[in-house]
Amino acid sequence: MLTTWSYLLLPALLGGVRGVAVADSVLSWQGKYQVHRNPFYPVDVVEKFAESSIPKVEAYMKKKIAAGKNNGCTLENAVVRREWSDMSIEMREEYVAATKCLMNLPGIAPRDKFPGVVSRFDDFVAYHMVHAAQLHDMLHLFAAHRYYVWVYEQALRNECNYTGYQPYMNYDRYTKEPEKSPLFNGNSSSMGGTGEYDPNYIGVNQPARNPNLIKSAGGGGCVKSGPFSDMVVNLGPTSSSTAPKNSVPRNPQSNGLGLNPRCLRRDINAAAALGATAAKMLTLLNNTDMNGFYNELLGNPPPKNDPYPWGVHTAGHYIHAVDPGGDPSSSPGDPVFYFHHGALDRLWWLWQMQDPEMRLNVIPTAGGMPPGSMPHRGERRGALGRWVDWVLAKRQEHEHEMNNIPAGSVIDLEFLAPSIPLVEAHDQLGGLGGKFCYIYV
Ligand SMILES: *[C@@H]1O[C@H](CO)[C@@H](O)[C@H](O)[C@H]1NC(C)=O
Ligand SMILES: *[C@@H]1O[C@H](CO)[C@@H](O)[C@H](O)[C@H]1NC(C)=O
Ligand SMILES: *[C@@H]1O[C@H](CO)[C@@H](O)[C@H](O)[C@H]1NC(C)=O
Repeated sequence: MLTTWSYLLLPALLGGVRGVAVADSVLSWQGKYQVHRNPFYPVDVVEKFAESSIPKVEAYMKKKIAAGKNNGCTLENAVVRREWSDMSIEMREEYVAATKCLMNLPGIAPRDKFPGVVSRFDDFVAYHMVHAAQLHDMLHLFAAHRYYVWVYEQALRNECNYTGYQPYMNYDRYTKEPEKSPLFNGNSSSMGGTGEYDPNYIGVNQPARNPNLIKSAGGGGCVKSGPFSDMVVNLGPTSSSTAPKNSVPRNPQSNGLGLNPRCLRRDINAAAALGATAAKMLTLLNNTDMNGFYNELLGNPPPKNDPYPWGVHTAGHYIHAVDPGGDPSSSPGDPVFYFHHGALDRLWWLWQMQDPEMRLNVIPTAGGMPPGSMPHRGERRGALGRWVDWVLAKRQEHEHEMNNIPAGSVIDLEFLAPSIPLVEAHDQLGGLGGKFCYIYV
């Protein structure tokens, strides 16, 4: 049954998709459709939705090529980002090795401003820490993270000889026994296991939601299994961290940018993942306007009568959380961050492709996270309450507005990469002179 977008049924070993990833040298676009899903996970509604979106992507590219606006990017030469457990074990191990390589290369961030940066990996954490407010505003959340994750992927490839592309995570696969999954089972082809039990870690407060706590799944301590059990976390935490303060050493600088070497801590948490099931992602993708899509992604307003009312963005962060993953500011200090923001990038792309004419360059105009009030910042009950009120008021004001990108908007990655016009990152199939040219399968 090798149809387009086919599902190869291989021996149903958890993660057992050895050596079946489609070679990137396959020249026909049809070849790219041959998605090898990990047979352990039944094909879900979002994967079916993605499959049914392909004719729209093809029509979009056909038009763009005819207009001479594709900058050399075609569906034949676009590179492919895959779900972690759909990748072969060899590719997973290669990705792990490249991540560790980045952690061993010297950082380039200016040390007067970022004294805690040790490695190239830390460069990305430091940038995110300093730009957290801007990275999460309405204009930048999608496009700036797209460029940021792409630059990270380039570093893995160009500086650490990784031959693949950035994986994403399908949250739905981690709603049941995530600690046994190919991503978190703690073996050599995983991104490491959960943390040891830490009685100080109770979970993540979710003020203004009901329930108002993502309860600890029994971790919170140092990760002791897998490739990152010896990882040294250097930057953070900041005051926005949700890790227990009595377990994690304070950073010598109040902005978290000082050197603070410590272990990687996690709480692999299925209850967090249940905020981002395939059913929820499908409902999210069903939004017809950007404000609806953006606010639902952020769990805003908080869903009612839902035992897991976190919103997909928050859910994805707290699948592993703790330190530094549970700090909105220094969260890229856990390498799984890039799987989560790859996943959000995939959802944004799928949403855009439903109606590229209308959706490609639309930005949210109402809601989200106004500067200084990250919605997953547990301690700030008052600010969060005010934020929700503000969002609800704004949302009514602008319900159907579909604004384009304000002229002159840029993405400034500071020392990481050159500034680019924000509009370029709205187009992953030809943007930035064709440098952005990738699809998700
Ligand atoms: C690691 O886990 C994956 C996913 O369960 C499995 O396919 C693989 O065989 C395991 N590798 C080792 C070395 O145990
Ligand atoms: C990447 O490959 C090049 C060429 O083979 C080699 O010189 C370089 O040391 C490799 N880099 C790393 C980080 O392994
Ligand atoms: C999508 O939206 C339509 C129209 O509002 C609705 O009828 C349908 O139930 C929605 N589907 C999902 C999965 O949310």
